Amino acid sequence: MRIALAADHAGYLLKDELASWLREQGHDVRDLGTNGPQSVDYPLFGRKVARAVASGEVERGIAVCGTGIGISIAVNREPKCRCARVGDPLSAQLAREHNDANVLALGARLIGSEMAKACVALFLGTEFAGGRHQPRVDQLSQELQESD
Ligand code: RB5
Repeated sequence: MRIALAADHAGYLLKDELASWLREQGHDVRDLGTNGPQSVDYPLFGRKVARAVASGEVERGIAVCGTGIGISIAVNREPKCRCARVGDPLSAQLAREHNDANVLALGARLIGSEMAKACVALFLGTEFAGGRHQPRVDQLSQELQESD
């Protein structure tokens, strides 16, 4: 699978570990930075992942910051992205089954690398269930209306 990863300074070590682990499994990994401890702004790196997913350059994205919260907000500014910030494997599985999440956000300061890998494995390995979830997912990409 083609997967883009990006992180801020709080998340780059976990991002690097996940990138190596995913490459070992044969995935086509695009590392969009950051690549060192120098302080950077998570919105910039969230946008990089969002652009890669929205353009179709990659099928999935993984975004990491300290909590996973800021970078998930940044990714979700792109209407074609459905970014789920998770901290446990069941949430990762349901984010795929119910929400067709195409980006996973992780908080490097909150979870260990083994938990992160368990989340990523389910994020990559679980199919969208479709059915009653499809129209709801379609609505996520729609602009807000006056009547909402
Ligand atoms: C950086 O200090 C931190 O604010 C960032 O990584 C993230 O947790 C923001 O949501």
